[in-house]
Amino acid sequence: MKKLYAVIGNPIAHSMSPLMHNDLFQHHGIDAHYHAFAIKEEDLADAVKGFRAMNISGFNVTVPHKVAIISLLDGVDPLARSIGAVNTVVNENGRLIGYNTDGSGYVKALKSELQGLNEKKVLMIGAGGAARAIYFTLAFEGVAHIDLTNRTPIKAERLVEECPYHAKSNIISLNEAEEQLAAYDIIIQTTSLGMSPNSECKVLSLHNLKESAFVSDIIYNPLETELLRQAKNKGAKTQNGIQMFVQQGALAFEKWTNVMPDIKRMTNRVLQQLGGTIC
Ligand code: ATR
Repeated sequence: MKKLYAVIGNPIAHSMSPLMHNDLFQHHGIDAHYHAFAIKEEDLADAVKGFRAMNISGFNVTVPHKVAIISLLDGVDPLARSIGAVNTVVNENGRLIGYNTDGSGYVKALKSELQGLNEKKVLMIGAGGAARAIYFTLAFEGVAHIDLTNRTPIKAERLVEECPYHAKSNIISLNEAEEQLAAYDIIIQTTSLGMSPNSECKVLSLHNLKESAFVSDIIYNPLETELLRQAKNKGAKTQNGIQMFVQQGALAFEKWTNVMPDIKRMTNRVLQQLGGTIC
C-alpha cells in the first residue's frame, strides 16, 4: 500500500518540501506520497490523532508547531529535546518519535564546504529558534568556540545557558562583533534580516572580515543576501540557506526510508522551483 508522508505548518502553501520529497520517492522507486497540510494551532492535537489513525509513516513539522508537537509524541530524540523543537517525526512501529534535522542539516551543509570545523572560531548572529537548533548542534558536535551577537542580548545569554553541550561562548554587541570580525573563521547569520522583501536590510558591516573567512546565511530568498554579496566582494567563501534546507530534508528522508538521497538532485529541484540557476 502507498505510504503517506506529510508536512504540517501554517502557512504551508509555499513549502518546497512536497516537490522535493515526491521527486525523491519517484526517483528511488518508493511507493509513497508526501502532502502539505495547513494546520491551525488549535487543531494540532486533532491532526496528530488523525495521522495516528491513518498510520502515517512520517511527517515534517514547521512553523508554528515545532515546539507544541513535542507533547503529542511518544518519544523525542535527546538532541531535539534539548533544542526544544522537532521538525521530523518518524512512525517507529506505531510510535511517533520526534527528531530535529534543522541543526544537523545545517552542520552537514557547513561540513560539506569546510574542513576542521571544530577548531574554527565561530560568530553567530541571532538567538531565535533557528539559532538555537544550530548552536546546540554545533556544541553537540564539539565546536569549541561559538560567540553570539543578538539585538536582544539576554536571549543570547539564555540560549547559551540552556545548552547542555559545552562550547566557549561570549555574548558580544553588534559593534564589538564588527570591530572584532577579523578574529572569526566562520560567520553564521540566522536572523530574518535581509530576507525578501526587505532584502536591502544590513545585518552588520563586514569591513573587518578576513579574506579566508566563511560566511553563511540561512536565508535562501534571495539566494544571495546583501551580507553574502558583501562577503563575496571581500573574497570570502559563502553559503546560502539552500543547503541547510536540502540537508534537513535529506536527513528526514533517510530516517523515513533508510535511503540517503542524492543531494545534488534535491538542490536542483529546489533551485528550479525558486527560479534560480541550476547547478
Ligand atoms: P527563527 O525561529 O526563524 O529563528 P525567531 O525565533 O523569531 O525566528 O528569531 C528571530 C531572530 O532574528 C532573533 O535573533 C531576532 O532578534 P531578537 O532576539 O532581538 O528579537 C532577530 N531579528 C528579527 N528581526 C530583527 C531586526 N529587525 N533587527 C535585529 N534582529 C532581528
